[in-house]
Formats: sequence, structure tokens, C-alpha cells
Amino acid sequence: MTEQTTTVSDTSAPAGSERPVRVNAWNGWDPLRHVIVGRAEGTVVQAPEHAVRRDYPDDGFPLGTYGPMPADMVAEAEQQLDDFADMLRRRGVRVDRPTPVDFTQEVSTPEWTHDSMFGCMPPRDLLLTVGNEVLEATMSYRSRWFEYLCYRPVLQSLFDADDRMRWEAAPKPRLTDASYKTGFWDTYNDLPTEEQLARVRDYDLVLTEAEPLFDAADVARFGKDLFVQLSFVTNRSGYEWLRRHFPDHRVHAVTSTNTHPLHIDATWVPLRPGLVLHCGERLADAELMEFFKLNDWEIVEAVQPASWDHPPKLSFCSPWLAGNMLNLDENTLCVEEKEVRLAEQLSSYGFEIVPVPFRAVGPFGGGLHCATVDIERDGTMEDYFP
Ligand code: ARG
Repeated sequence: MTEQTTTVSDTSAPAGSERPVRVNAWNGWDPLRHVIVGRAEGTVVQAPEHAVRRDYPDDGFPLGTYGPMPADMVAEAEQQLDDFADMLRRRGVRVDRPTPVDFTQEVSTPEWTHDSMFGCMPPRDLLLTVGNEVLEATMSYRSRWFEYLCYRPVLQSLFDADDRMRWEAAPKPRLTDASYKTGFWDTYNDLPTEEQLARVRDYDLVLTEAEPLFDAADVARFGKDLFVQLSFVTNRSGYEWLRRHFPDHRVHAVTSTNTHPLHIDATWVPLRPGLVLHCGERLADAELMEFFKLNDWEIVEAVQPASWDHPPKLSFCSPWLAGNMLNLDENTLCVEEKEVRLAEQLSSYGFEIVPVPFRAVGPFGGGLHCATVDIERDGTMEDYFP
């Protein structure tokens, strides 16, 4: 395993770094002060496991094969991530980065062994900041079980610097065969869409309810309300754990008509108080829509993404990743630079758009929202659905 150093806070950062560290974030739109940006370095197309199978016959990784992502793709993604981090620093945002470990190594617990890890690109999947708490999610892939190690240096530095920070980790899952419907991926992708959607609606997917499982990126934060998407990586028990863990919040379980639900942040995207972006193709629950409409929220249907006809190599994200944006504040949105139509759509709602080249990062697990974790945004917990 790569040796981990204890100093990852980037002290060379010209801006933001003089501010005292203060963990505080209640929603996705308050002014951003401090953020973690992931790394592509070392990412692996992971070995097949019950929860997930990679199968890219045209891109050098047919089913059953695994190994490091191509070096040229890593270099390009690293460049875009670094440039994004620099841009944020120039705007006065403090930026921390995770510390990769050797993701090609075999990992095991006393109950199982797995042939590879994955990476530390989408930090949003792992860490959930709610107020002064940073919570490490359980995760549900064996290849991501140890991913928290990449974030321990930065979490330790936050903990040392801010004596109000609450550092929490959800129960580490066992991830034995009992946590999975082990034959799920043998048949699921061949089912007719209607049948897949019925499975999603009934929450009959790859995870069992043997233990609480969730990824942080299945949680959308709207102040007092947290929306938890049931997905390939988040089960009902995971939602139930979150509900009990955040007793001062209203925690909602939601689904949408998405045949491949995986992380809510390209489907139901908070933009600012009163405005949410919705991936139109994936109809949200009637109940969820009602809840927003009753409270006078406007639901914007995202235009078709620019990447529609050109899915990038080795990517497991859909084109709807376009909607995976980062708010710098409630008037300013970072949008992938090629998503011009989406940018125009959002400009018409009064947003200032910051175009960010980020296409090359997609195959490493996501867009501008996935690639980041809010550590500090101004503001307090508010009730937007009174
Ligand atoms: N699975 C989503 C889609 O393909 C993308 C969301 C990725 N989000 C993340 N936090 N990794 O539409």
C-alpha cells in the first residue's frame, strides 16, 4: 500500500487557505468556501463482484477483465481535475485533495477477498457533509470498501483544525454474499424496460436488506430535508439508518423511473431555494413532485445533454451527467463546458455560468458534483418546505 502522509491540506493554495477551517454545509447552493476535489490517479476498472460488473468489450475491458485505466485517460482527467481545483482556489475556495492508495491490490476482510479496489475519484459517493458533521458512507461495493482510507488524511486534518467538527462513520458493512442477490446482473440488463422500472419501483434490485448500505451521493441536501434515493448502491435499510442518524431532519426515501438508479445527483439536482433541476427522462415519484409543488418549488426539466450521442470510453455514467453541476453560490453554477444548451437554459433562470472542461473526468465516475464534497458553505439549517 502506498504510504500515506498526514499533510494533504494544500498549503500552497493562494486563496482560502488563510481562513480557519470550519466544517459547515446544509445544502448544495449556499456560498462555497471549502471543498474536496477527487483524483483520477490510480483508478482501476474494477474486478467483477456481485454488486457491479464492468463490461467494455470495445474498450479493452471485456467482462471478467480488470486493471488500471489507460494512462492517457488518467493524465487527461488529472489535468482537468487540477485545473478545476485551481479555478476554485482563484475564486477564494479552499481545496483539499484525497491521497490515492494502490487500487490494483487485492483486498479482504475476514469474510471475503476481492481482486481489486477502484479509485478515489468521486468523493461525493463516500462523504456526506451535513452541518458540522462529515459522515463516511457504508458503500456497497467490495472494491470500494477501503476507499475511506484515501480520505483519512484530509479528514484528520479537518478534525485537528476545527474543534466543532463531528466526524462520523456509518457501520462498516459486512458485504458477505447475504448482502446481494448474487445472480442479479446475469439477467437484469436483458429485462424489458417496463420490468426493470417495476423492479426499481418495488425496490427489488441487487442489494438485499441484510444490513444498512448507502452511498453518500444518493442523498440530496435541502436544509432540513434530505432526499435519499433507493438505488443499486443504497437499500431501504441504509435509508432507515440515515433517518435515525439525522433526527432533526426530515429524511425521505425516493425513487424515479430510472432503470439504472445510481446516485441522485444527476436526477434531482438542487439549484437554489425554490428551484430544482430534474432529469426529465426519469420521472420522479408523484409524492416527491407533489411535496415540491405544494411548497412552491419550480421543477425545471433539463434539456437533452450535449454528450447524448457520444458516450465516452469506459464510462458507467449516462449522458445525464450533464446535470451534475457544482454551485459556487445560489446564483453561480459550474457547468461542463460542452453542455452549452444546458448552460443557456440555466442562464435564462438568472444563473451566472462558469464553464469547466470536465469531459475527461466522466469515465472516472462523474461530473463536477460527484468530483467534489462540500466542506464549508455559508449558512445555517433552514426549512425550505415549511
Ligand atoms: N449515475 C448517474 C447517471 O449516470 C451519474 C451520477 C454520478 N454521481 C456520482 N456521485 N458519482 O446519470
